[in-house]
Amino acid sequence: MTTSTSTAGNAAATAAVGYRVWVKKITDLPFHELDSDELTRMCYLSWVAAVEFAEALRVAERIHGDHKGLQDMIAGELQTSNLAFDDYRRSGDHHEFLAHFLGKDGQLEKLEAELGEFAAEYLRECRALDDETRAMSVFSREEELPGIFTRFLEAPAENWQTPALAAYRYYLEQHIFLDSDEGGHAELIGDLTVDERVEPFYHARFRLYRCVPAFVQSGAYDTEA
Ligand SMILES: [Fe+2]
Repeated sequence: MTTSTSTAGNAAATAAVGYRVWVKKITDLPFHELDSDELTRMCYLSWVAAVEFAEALRVAERIHGDHKGLQDMIAGELQTSNLAFDDYRRSGDHHEFLAHFLGKDGQLEKLEAELGEFAAEYLRECRALDDETRAMSVFSREEELPGIFTRFLEAPAENWQTPALAAYRYYLEQHIFLDSDEGGHAELIGDLTVDERVEPFYHARFRLYRCVPAFVQSGAYDTEA
């Protein structure tokens, strides 16, 4: 580790500055207004994000593979059976869970055609980060995503009725539990360094969500193209 301005475990000490400005911009988006189509878009975007997350986690494993907490966390993220819903009962990376339900519901190709450019840009921006920063983005996500996913769940209950969205809701709830529970992922890797180099990652994530109409209509992107 070259620099150390914070660790993944001390959020309170560095709240609302630097990269957490982007985290706040994400959590301030109007999730409570999302309709079923917009939630399906979010499900697709979560699949894209999960594909990149698995890549970045494998990068982290290459760099920090001797860290016991990271090893335990990886066991709960990659080739794992800790997501089981409806007819999905197998080991896999978590993105495979979302691809299964989006594919079954006939949504994946349609969403790829509609939103593929946004996804490709996000993936390009994440993959352009150096290996250490990608690893840090993973450590940081274990701490920040439970709060963000909790906001997703504020979308009206009646808007999660499709089979894919029922699975997506379960996916979000499980992730909040796996990351933030006592002894969960955030705790396991809480001593690994996170610093401001992760800012471009959260900027890219904020921009990824600009293909959701309710977010654009809220004015959240008026000063951020
Ligand atoms: Fe996690």
